[in-house]
Amino acid sequence: SQDQYVLAIETSCDETAVAIIKNERELVANVVASQIESHKRFGGVVPEIASRHHIEQITLTLEEALTESDIELDRIDAIAVTEGPGLVGALLVGVNAAKALAFAKQKPLVGVHHIAGHIYANRLEEEFEFPLLSLVVSGGHTELILMKEHGSFEVIGETRDDAAGEAYDKVARTLKLPYPGGPHIDKLAEEGEVNIEFPRAWLEDGSYDFSFSGLKSAVINKLHNAKQKGEIVNSEDVAASFQESVVDVLSTKAYHAAKEYEVKQIIVAGGVAANQGLRSALHQKFDEEDIDLLIPPLHLCTDNAAMIAAAGAVAFNQGHRSGYDLNANPALSL
Ligand code: KG4
Ligand code: ZN
Repeated sequence: SQDQYVLAIETSCDETAVAIIKNERELVANVVASQIESHKRFGGVVPEIASRHHIEQITLTLEEALTESDIELDRIDAIAVTEGPGLVGALLVGVNAAKALAFAKQKPLVGVHHIAGHIYANRLEEEFEFPLLSLVVSGGHTELILMKEHGSFEVIGETRDDAAGEAYDKVARTLKLPYPGGPHIDKLAEEGEVNIEFPRAWLEDGSYDFSFSGLKSAVINKLHNAKQKGEIVNSEDVAASFQESVVDVLSTKAYHAAKEYEVKQIIVAGGVAANQGLRSALHQKFDEEDIDLLIPPLHLCTDNAAMIAAAGAVAFNQGHRSGYDLNANPALSL
């Protein structure tokens, strides 16, 4: 048949993931082996442990994806892999596995940017319409990216310090919540009231950049001061007030940028796209507008290889190829 299959590998952080997609947009297999349990007791991802787990899991994950898809390796048309950004030792495991497969089976190899993957996760659900704006919010990224066509990414705003997910995780740690803290704060916030004034960094007029370190410090200071004075602060209210500040800035800037660039779609990407507060704020802003709001389903928000396959398939069809000298690039830019 004329069907095209792309197999992808993602090992940039703490998930060992392999997926296979058909004809750029159809999910055929999607296997994610999470290491979160091994990192939890350290309160964050330990790079050494991550690399070791990837090595243990990569072959099993690959076999599981092939079994799930019922497709022979020989039938695959291209191998895509996350080449960066991420933890270098973690990325290397995926890159080397992809190179070995490509070489052994004589298949084309395509290196993919992790963030391009997060954006393209949405295309497994709905076709893109350009120009589109993507709000990328993860543990390592907070960016507004304008796309005028496939494979073209223009960063129009980015964080100057902490990423949104990073702020969530640090505030969560101060509240003694488990890692990763984002989902826990999200849940607490639902039960709390927005009754604490926390700062919102709007930055210069017209800027689409973000800054979350001031907000993070304000929350941490508030908790420390209360503890010193023996005051009781309600964690639910802290979570709700913190989340309100983050979500207000993210959704407002995304809204203004979407209007200014007259985009047809606003696409949300990255782990923080799972946030209920952000989802409802974006719906409130965009549902009345002639702009389509795309938010991936939860299993495609956090790290996975389906998104790498989705971005990789487009790059492959645009003629992009990587050589056997493909290397892990922890600071790769879009
Ligand atoms: O995209 P991702 O899986 O990994 C990176 O590439 O960073 O994102 C992980 C981040 C973590 O900081 C996590 O706390 C955050 O996404 N996160 C959330 C939620 N679910 C995950 N943050 C806020 N609310 C959530 N529901
Ligand atoms: Zn990610």
